Amino acid sequence: MTAQLNPSAPITVEVALGDRGYDIVIGRDVLRSLGTRIAALRPGARTAIVTDRTVAASWLAQTQEALDDVGIVSFPIVVEGGEGSKSYAGLQQVCEALIAAKIERNDLVIALGGGVVGDLAGFSASIVRRGLDFVQVPTSLLAQVDSSVGGKTGINSPHGKNLVGAFHQPVLVIADTAVLDTLSPRQFRAGYAEVAKYGALGDEAFFAWLEANHADIVRGGSAREHAIATSCRAKAAIVARDERETGERALLNLGHTFGHALEAATGFSDRLFHGEGVAVGMVLAAEFSAERGMLAADAAKRLSHHLAEVGLPTRLQDIAGLAQEGLADADALMALMAQDKKVKRGRLTFILLEAIGRAVIANDVEPQPVRDFLARKLADKI
Ligand SMILES: NC(=O)c1ccc[n+]([C@@H]2O[C@H](COP(=O)([O-])OP(=O)(O)OC[C@H]3O[C@@H](n4cnc5c(N)ncnc54)[C@H](O)[C@@H]3O)[C@@H](O)[C@H]2O)c1
Ligand SMILES: [Zn+2]
Repeated sequence: MTAQLNPSAPITVEVALGDRGYDIVIGRDVLRSLGTRIAALRPGARTAIVTDRTVAASWLAQTQEALDDVGIVSFPIVVEGGEGSKSYAGLQQVCEALIAAKIERNDLVIALGGGVVGDLAGFSASIVRRGLDFVQVPTSLLAQVDSSVGGKTGINSPHGKNLVGAFHQPVLVIADTAVLDTLSPRQFRAGYAEVAKYGALGDEAFFAWLEANHADIVRGGSAREHAIATSCRAKAAIVARDERETGERALLNLGHTFGHALEAATGFSDRLFHGEGVAVGMVLAAEFSAERGMLAADAAKRLSHHLAEVGLPTRLQDIAGLAQEGLADADALMALMAQDKKVKRGRLTFILLEAIGRAVIANDVEPQPVRDFLARKLADKI
């Protein structure tokens, strides 16, 4: 766990899903090996690279070069950056471009980008010609530790996020940690919240290691590889045991019930990135767990202290525009949580903490104590 790893050797994490299993290859400059890996996996395949405008500017040429070097043809499909592309219009653009490029069943779709591109390209791949294989080349920290692993793909509906989609596992994930150097520091921190989540939900030793090594992770040394590999291993293990989220996979939603409500309250805008909502949501989940007597108050403080040290928001008061758009209203937040998928027959499902490193699924939480808790949190001094 605490061993420093050789920075030049890529780390391979296997996702054990039988004949749908695949490797996640993590390391600096592993993007250069994309062509040889694809040639070995699918000889003769042609490829389409789905990416967004921002990522294309920094990484498309290098990705095409890696394919070109071994004679693999690639067609770029460039969408606009941002959540807006995870839409029916974005899906149509990508599907039609894949068909126009004559990408067939033996070919490969490559998703080069953050979670938006991964979800959109993966879903397009799942439906064009009744299913094309795809490779994830995640370029944001969030995508490398979370969205590129596990096979959830999809787009948003006007009714809500991720409501139209499919389980479609990639055949390979290439996580080049050097690619993260062009990510904005704020986006990097947002992804870090998901890294810390793996420690908080199931691995106290990893959490302690993060407390000691977070600065190195940001700087991009071997600690970055180790943090990403440990996160992917944690997610891969949970996904292998519960691919379709009938049980344990729900633990990955730690911080997400509160977080999604906060994202919705801020209109899924730049005021609060997903990972930032997760950071505040994890602290709320920990504090709520402490209020219920499940978690030591010191453990909740330890979690919020670490996230704050990294520069993440941890309190409702840290969110820009708290007083606007109903965000400062416990009832409005409760209504947003009630729209979430995690509600059954009036009871809320929360992932709560018994310790740093031990999360539990609580699927019968009464709304009233949650509402009262939020009202108290909102009344805290700014
Ligand atoms: N499928 C899943 O299991 C899963 C899990 C978590 C999140 N998600 C989804 O992921 C999405 C969020 O992902 P995200 O945070 O990666 O957002 P994103 O894809 O919008 O990327 C964030 C921003 O960073 C830019 N970017 C990405 N890589 C870059 C790089 N290397 N250099 C410079 N800029 C770069 C993008 O252009 C974008 O502007 C949401 O839609 C969420 O629903 C899916
Ligand atoms: Zn998340």
